[in-house]
Amino acid sequence: AQNRTFTMIKPDAFSAGNTGAILKMIEEAGFRIVAAKVTKLTAERAGQFYEVHKERPFYNDLCEYMSSGAIMALILEKDNAVADFRTLIGATNPAEAAEGTVRKLFAKSIEANAIHGSDSDENAQLEGSFFFSKDEEF
Ligand code: CMP
Repeated sequence: AQNRTFTMIKPDAFSAGNTGAILKMIEEAGFRIVAAKVTKLTAERAGQFYEVHKERPFYNDLCEYMSSGAIMALILEKDNAVADFRTLIGATNPAEAAEGTVRKLFAKSIEANAIHGSDSDENAQLEGSFFFSKDEEF
């Protein structure tokens, strides 16, 4: 079934000028862009977005990093969107990401790993609504 996922092009990839190349990969893989914006998180808002990780040792660094520069947030639509998008982006750690994946091509480190992809339909919905109102989705 057609469903939706949420993604962010993270500060490392955005500031390196890799946004266009990543969007090309996303569209060529058959995803339709439903919503998109360039924005910047405060450390506090990054903390809210990554609330589920707040007990993890990397949480403070992650919030600092995710608020260090502009990002691009998008909602994407495709059959099997959540799982297929995670295949397209590859493993969290770029050292373990498959050839040809977004993270293999563009990630700098396990933290500055170029891109986010929701891990479930429920989180895709929650994360999308964190950035977009319904009238910004097409
Ligand atoms: P993401 O898939 O957006 O979700 C959580 C983020 O935390 C992850 O991408 C990385 O940016 C970061 N992250 C995950 N694991 C680690 C780790 N072991 N060390 C540092 N950052 C991590």
